[in-house]
Amino acid sequence: MAEKPILLGIDLGTTNTCVAYVRNKIAKVVPSDKGALILPSVVAISEKGELLVGNVAKDQMVVNPRNTIYGAKRLIGRKYNSKVVQDIKHYFTYEIVEGSEGEAAVALAGKVYSLPQISAFVLQHCKRVAEATLGQEIKEAVISVPAYYNDNQRQAVKEAGRLAGFEVKRIVNEPTAAALAYGLNRGFDHKVLVYDLGGGTFDVSVLQLHGNVMEVLATGGDTFLGGVDFDNRIIDFVLEEFREETRIDLTDSPIAMQRIKNASEAAKIDLTLLSNVVIELPYVAERRGKPVDLKIPLSRERLNSLVMDLVDRTFQIVDRVLGEKNIPPSDIAEVLLVGGQTRTPLVQGKTHQHFGRPPRKGVHPDESVALGAALLAESMSEIDSVTLVDALSMPIGFAMPGGRFRKVIEKNSQIPVQRSFRLPPTKGAVMELDIFQGDSERIIDNEYLGTLRFPPEAAGQRVNFNLDEECLLHVTVEGLRGETQPKEVLLATRDTPETLKAAWAEENERRRLLAEQQAEDEPRKGLFASIRKVFGG
Ligand SMILES: Nc1ncnc2c1ncn2[C@@H]1O[C@H](COP(=O)(O)OP(=O)(O)OP(=O)(O)O)[C@@H](O)[C@H]1O
Ligand SMILES: [Mg+2]
Repeated sequence: MAEKPILLGIDLGTTNTCVAYVRNKIAKVVPSDKGALILPSVVAISEKGELLVGNVAKDQMVVNPRNTIYGAKRLIGRKYNSKVVQDIKHYFTYEIVEGSEGEAAVALAGKVYSLPQISAFVLQHCKRVAEATLGQEIKEAVISVPAYYNDNQRQAVKEAGRLAGFEVKRIVNEPTAAALAYGLNRGFDHKVLVYDLGGGTFDVSVLQLHGNVMEVLATGGDTFLGGVDFDNRIIDFVLEEFREETRIDLTDSPIAMQRIKNASEAAKIDLTLLSNVVIELPYVAERRGKPVDLKIPLSRERLNSLVMDLVDRTFQIVDRVLGEKNIPPSDIAEVLLVGGQTRTPLVQGKTHQHFGRPPRKGVHPDESVALGAALLAESMSEIDSVTLVDALSMPIGFAMPGGRFRKVIEKNSQIPVQRSFRLPPTKGAVMELDIFQGDSERIIDNEYLGTLRFPPEAAGQRVNFNLDEECLLHVTVEGLRGETQPKEVLLATRDTPETLKAAWAEENERRRLLAEQQAEDEPRKGLFASIRKVFGG
C-alpha cells in the first residue's frame, strides 16, 4: 500500500525557518539529525564557491559578510526602486541590485539571484531534510507569511515554494496559523489575540473562534519591527560605552561589528533568564600594536529602557487593531504570544498589564506557526476541514491624478471578497490603471502591485477586484467575455509606471538633500545610523 503523502507546514521566518508535519492527527516539528528542524534563514556562497544554507551559512557570516544573505524576508516581493528598499539597501552587508523585472534582487559571488530563488534555497534544504528524516518524498506544502504582506510579497513566497519543488497548497497568514495550532478541535468559542514578535516582523491579529471556524476580525502589524531592532539597540549601547571608555570607534570594522552583533543578541537572550550579564569580547581592536578588549555590563533593567519604545510601539499597534473593530481588551479571552522575541520578560509583563491577565501558557513561540500551517495542510485534504475566514491587512486600489490613492477593497474586509467599480466611458483608447496596496492616501507610500491595461471596448464597463482565500488579487471586466465567464485581466506590466518613477525620483532627491543637511548639522550623530548601515535594522 502506498504511504499516505506527508504535507509540510513551513514557517519561513526572517531569522529562522521552522518545518512541521502531521501524523495521526498530531502536528509535530520535523526532526533532523541535529534536533528539531528549525533552520537559520541564511544562504551563502563560500570562498570555494559552495552553496551553504542554514547553520553552516550563519556560522561563516563573520568572515564572509558580502556573500551571506540574511533577512531575505524583508526584501522579497519588493521593487528595487521602492521607498522601502531604497531606505534599507545600504544597511545590509551584501549587495542589493535591481532584478530584470525591476524587483529587488541580490548579488551573490558575482551572480544575481532573485529573492524567491534565495528563499527557495532555504525551502529546498528543508524539503531535503524532511524527506530524509521522514523517509518519503514530499511534494506539497503550506507556507506562512506575515498577515501584513501585500500581494507582491505573497506571490513571491509562492514562487519561492514552486522553485523549491513544492506544490504550494496555500499561503496562510502567520497569526492565523498560530491560532489554528492553539484552537483546532478544542471547541473554543471566544476571541483570541495573536501577538507575534519575531526576528524581523511584528504581526497582530484578533480572531473569533467558533469551534473549527476561525474568523480573523482585524489584523495589523509592522514588517520592520522585530528582534533585530532590539539587537540594534544593544549594539548601539555597546558601541557608545566602548567609545566613551576607549575613544575607539568600532563601526569601521565589519568583523568587530559582526562580533558585537552576535554578542548583543546572545546578551539579550541571556537577559530573558538572568538579571545581569557582561558582554565580553577579547581583542576587539588594537591600539599601538596592543590588543584592546571589550567588557561591558548590561542589566535587564537597562535593556528594558533601551527597548521600551519598541515594545510600546507594538502595543500601540495592538490598540489600533482592537480600535478598528471597537473591541475592548477585556473581550479577549486569551493572548497568544508567538515569536522568539516574546520570551523577553518586558514583553510578557506588558502583555499582562495591557490585558489584565497573563498570556496563554503552552503556546510554543517558535513552533506554533509551523504547526498551524501543517494542520491546515492536512485539513485541506479532509472533508470535515477547518474553515478559515481571513481579513485583508492593507487596502487595495488604484492611482488617481496627483498621486492620490483610491481604495477599492478596504482594510479588514473579510476574504474572499469582491468589489467593483466602473471604468470611465472614454471611447477608443487603451486605458491603464496602476494598482497599489497600502494604508497611505498617497501612492508613493504604498506598494505598487502592477498595471492593468484595458482594451478600448472595456470603456464604461464594470471592473471586479476579487481577492481569493490566499489574499491574492484577480481582476475581471464584465462585458469582456472569456469562454464562459468574465476574462481575467492580468497585472501585466510589473515594471514601474512612469508616474511613480517620477514621484520616487523626486522623493529620493528630497531625502538626499535632507540627509546632506543633517550630516552638516550634526556630524557625530551618525553612530546609530552607521550600525544600521552594517546590519539592516
Ligand atoms: N530567549 C529569548 N529571549 C529573547 N529573545 C529571543 C529569545 N529566543 C529568541 N529570541 C529572539 O527571537 C527572534 C527570532 O524569533 P523567531 O524565530 O520567532 O523569528 P522569525 O520567525 O524568524 O521572524 P519573523 O516572524 O519576524 O519573520 C530573534 O531576534 C531572537 O534573538
Ligand atoms: Mg515568525
